[in-house]
Amino acid sequence: MATIDTGSAYGLKKPTYNARLAEVGRGTPMGELLRRYWHPVGLSSDAGATPRRVRILGEELILFRDGQGRAGLVYPRCCHRGTTLYYGKVEERGIRCCYHGWLFDVEGRCLEMPAEPDPGGRQCQRVRQPWYPAQERYGLVFAYLGPPDRKPVLPRYECLEVMGPGETVEADDSSIGSGGIVIAPCNWLQHFENVVDPYHVPILHGSFSGPQFVEQMAAFPKVTFEYGPVGVKATSIRPGPDGRTFRRVTEAVLPTLRVVPNPRVAQYGRVESIGWTVPIDDTHYRIYVAGRIREKGELARFKSRYNGKTWAELTPEEHQKFPGDVEAQVGQGPISFHSEEHLMSSDQGVAMLRQMFQRQLEALGSGKDPVGVAFTEADAYVKLDAGQYLED
Ligand code: FES
Ligand SMILES: [Fe+2]
Repeated sequence: MATIDTGSAYGLKKPTYNARLAEVGRGTPMGELLRRYWHPVGLSSDAGATPRRVRILGEELILFRDGQGRAGLVYPRCCHRGTTLYYGKVEERGIRCCYHGWLFDVEGRCLEMPAEPDPGGRQCQRVRQPWYPAQERYGLVFAYLGPPDRKPVLPRYECLEVMGPGETVEADDSSIGSGGIVIAPCNWLQHFENVVDPYHVPILHGSFSGPQFVEQMAAFPKVTFEYGPVGVKATSIRPGPDGRTFRRVTEAVLPTLRVVPNPRVAQYGRVESIGWTVPIDDTHYRIYVAGRIREKGELARFKSRYNGKTWAELTPEEHQKFPGDVEAQVGQGPISFHSEEHLMSSDQGVAMLRQMFQRQLEALGSGKDPVGVAFTEADAYVKLDAGQYLED
């Protein structure tokens, strides 16, 4: 950094980022940690009869649904001579490569080699198309990209399992910039850390850019941070209506779960949705959301307004004048330079989250399973504290 005495930018050192935390590729520390958990790779409706490209954790994959209704996720390069299964045809039993017609099921087993003298013969067992387990829940397709012998049970979340009257669960795939941006061009951690940064709410979403959320959120909160069993929890206390206390609890749950009550509705009670921050590669992420709803399309309906417009409607000048989360987080750069940061007391949640990740990296390094990874249905049932509450 520049020396404090003059502050001249001339003294800046070459900036660096914490690769251990930020990078997600195969074989990197965080990449291996994230590969111990299930991640959403698409909406259930994305898995269909047309092969679809999916990018996650620096890998490119092909998602499809066979004629029997099973979702499949395979490595794109055909194990015969390498063309992509993106041009494949989806059939009753699996996906057929366009080039020489090899047919693979959702677990990569080869069922047919039409150009061979005995198309369904024993030679089929000599190959296997690389694949990953896929499982559907809450309207999303989840994938496990880790070592097969450490595959955990796909978790269930109480807030998406226990329904109120008339409620069902819906999934949505475009919640950055109020749906104006699907793939954000920056590192996933920049978004995930934002979950435990409640002090930015009254500033960025309040006084700086004008109210982007409901009015109560504009008040400066008194915040406490705590570790939970699987993440970091921030409790923000603000004055509520009629002299009552407005208590808002948000959680960042490992590996990438954003458990945040909707700041656009003054609704009280336990959290109604979960957002997954999905690292696409080191410099891109996207979000999938599943939430309890009463009416179809409800998740996508609550859009923040910036100067009376949705994010997508803003001109470049307005983006500069009324920045929101997208501008602030993408503005930190493709991967934020951690060497140039100065964390203060209000960044306690961010520091705690990084520490929690560091501890999981150490656990993994010494052969242990990270937190939140469960191998029985009972252990994979997750209860969270997040919500908005009015108290006397
Ligand atoms: S390259 Fe796929 S069948 Fe030949
Ligand atoms: Fe925000």
